[in-house]
Amino acid sequence: MQQSIDILKSWLEHRRPKIAVVLGSGLGSLADEVADAISIPYSEIPGFPISGVTGHSGELRVGTLSGTPVIVLSGRAHYYEHGNAAAMRPALEILAGVGVDTLFLTNAAGSLETDMPPGSVMLITDHINFSGSNPLFGEPSDRRFVGLTQAYDPDLSERLERAAKETDTELHKGVYMWFSGPSFETPAEIRMAGVFGANAVGMSTVPEVIIARFLGMRVAACSVITNLAAGMTGGELSHQETKDMAPLGGKRLASILKTAIGGLG
Ligand code: HPA
Repeated sequence: MQQSIDILKSWLEHRRPKIAVVLGSGLGSLADEVADAISIPYSEIPGFPISGVTGHSGELRVGTLSGTPVIVLSGRAHYYEHGNAAAMRPALEILAGVGVDTLFLTNAAGSLETDMPPGSVMLITDHINFSGSNPLFGEPSDRRFVGLTQAYDPDLSERLERAAKETDTELHKGVYMWFSGPSFETPAEIRMAGVFGANAVGMSTVPEVIIARFLGMRVAACSVITNLAAGMTGGELSHQETKDMAPLGGKRLASILKTAIGGLG
């Protein structure tokens, strides 16, 4: 771990961003907006995941967003790739090791709300872990009993809401339910998710939230809605649809994030 932290520090030179942003499927364009950027392939930092998911590029972009130093991660490891919910733990530990204390997570998600259609952005206010897994399985210390009552930092979330207002961008709020994937949900599962109180469903983010809270980071997260959830329309769901539709809401999310992060510098 320390070796990876030192390797990343040598890439960063004098830079010590405290903020990291993880970009979800098809949301990579925000990485292009990082100013004075250097790019570091994940393969250069032992512990960073090699993602085999199309729509995820696998590199760190280090620079500034609206003047604030950031590290943007294009690409994440998903539980469904190897059945390892802790796949992002080394990457997040390495980021913490170079001084990152604030994490913005983004994802593509299916909506359970007809008035939150594809192209919408949803601030995640809470989550439901429906995967049956947890990234802290096997963690021996008592620190594994992480409190998640305020998993999503109220101040960061409020900052995102303010940024949405300032940029005249609609920002929905809701509960994200983590399914393991990689198959999409069935219509019956989506009806269940609705009864349970979910507003959106997806295959990522929750393990990273748990790991980041374990590491003491502040966390905020947003979903970009790429589709109405299974059974809500006549059609079948597909990863191609996720990739095609993500940039629509991705533009909205980028303007919210840039504004919110700008004030944190
Ligand atoms: N379900 C799960 N994950 C997703 C979806 C969905 O409908 N859309 C994008 N990611």
